[in-house]
Amino acid sequence: MNKRADGAAVGDARLVAKDLDVTFSLPGSRQAHAVDGVNLEVGAGEIVALAGESGCGKTTLARTLLGLEQPTAGSVTFNGEPLGRSTRALRKFRRQVQMILQDPAGALNPRQTVYEAVAEGLRIHGIEGSNEAEQVMEALSQAGLRPPERFLMNYPYELSGGQRQRVVIAGALALAPKILVADEPVASLDASVRGEILALLQKLRDEFGLGALVVTHDLGLAWNIADRIAVMYLGRIVEQGPVEQVLKDPQHPYTRALVSVLPESPLADEAVVLSGEAPDASSIPGGCRFHPRCPIVADGRAAEAGIEEQCKSQKLQILTSKPDQWQVACHYAATRELEGVQPAGAESESRG
Ligand SMILES: Nc1ncnc2c1ncn2[C@@H]1O[C@H](COP(=O)(O)OP(=O)(O)OP(=O)(O)O)[C@@H](O)[C@H]1O
Ligand code: SF4
Ligand SMILES: [Mg+2]
Repeated sequence: MNKRADGAAVGDARLVAKDLDVTFSLPGSRQAHAVDGVNLEVGAGEIVALAGESGCGKTTLARTLLGLEQPTAGSVTFNGEPLGRSTRALRKFRRQVQMILQDPAGALNPRQTVYEAVAEGLRIHGIEGSNEAEQVMEALSQAGLRPPERFLMNYPYELSGGQRQRVVIAGALALAPKILVADEPVASLDASVRGEILALLQKLRDEFGLGALVVTHDLGLAWNIADRIAVMYLGRIVEQGPVEQVLKDPQHPYTRALVSVLPESPLADEAVVLSGEAPDASSIPGGCRFHPRCPIVADGRAAEAGIEEQCKSQKLQILTSKPDQWQVACHYAATRELEGVQPAGAESESRG
């Protein structure tokens, strides 16, 4: 069992999405299917990266995992219990699963000192005690703001972007959460401090057994910090597994294209710049949803393998969530013998 430094057990906490769908209504009776059949889990002591292009549904999935968005279908459970909808149930849940947003400036009240910002969560959750100041200082220390006394009376405008994000993280840590859900936690920060904030997430994992889902559109960042990765395309997870395996030799053509354009990519000699229509959650292509942009279809390899028709018209199975298993949803991958990879081929049911 993992333990935080303050002695609180992180245990084997698990946040699980099962067959999750989230649909938004758009003008003209159209619908955006932002999340479409997602199975994903994140547990204590692991960092899971959720990666994919802008608009693929990462934030919607993260918000649904936090109970901030209601799923249209499927479920979210924490430690085996479905997320309650009552204020009390959600409050209890949010103590254990904390969200870190992209922009720390927006997350902090400009009129609150660092002390007030970190103490606020303790007060909301009714867990401040006679030792509130100690709890605040310990959280600031854990978030790397040391000595904490130096920062207590500062206002957000007096801090750097990296320090502000550390204050937000301290506010989360004060509640002794088990899992953090971080949506693009370093995207708004200078390159020079990104690494420090990411190193902090790793340290919190290693020292306190904290789990984290880190949402990012940056695969390089995912590679640096995550244990596992899930790659999302138009609302679906198309490839997932241990980060080293998936990113060294991705099997889904979409992941391959994303990896191929990374600096120092192992796939640099086959760099693929994705073309074709920009993905649109209100108009998801039939068959494999990536087929209009897929290089395997475009360069004739799908036709050669006799699967082009499948790519264009046959739906793919939804990936299950099996941590440590490398899974890929692709008709082409399903035709090949791939060591250690579980390809999910054609879907036999009616789901899209
Ligand atoms: N409240 C909403 N109403 C209507 N459509 C929405 C809403 N929120 C998200 N969407 C749509 O759902 C899809 C997924 O959006 P989402 O913000 O989850 O993507 P993302 O992967 O987080 O993108 P980014 O990398 O740009 O942050 C998009 O097509 C978006 O336009
Ligand atoms: S199923 Fe076909 S279209 Fe889809 S990613 Fe695989 S090869 Fe490309
Ligand atoms: Mg987003």
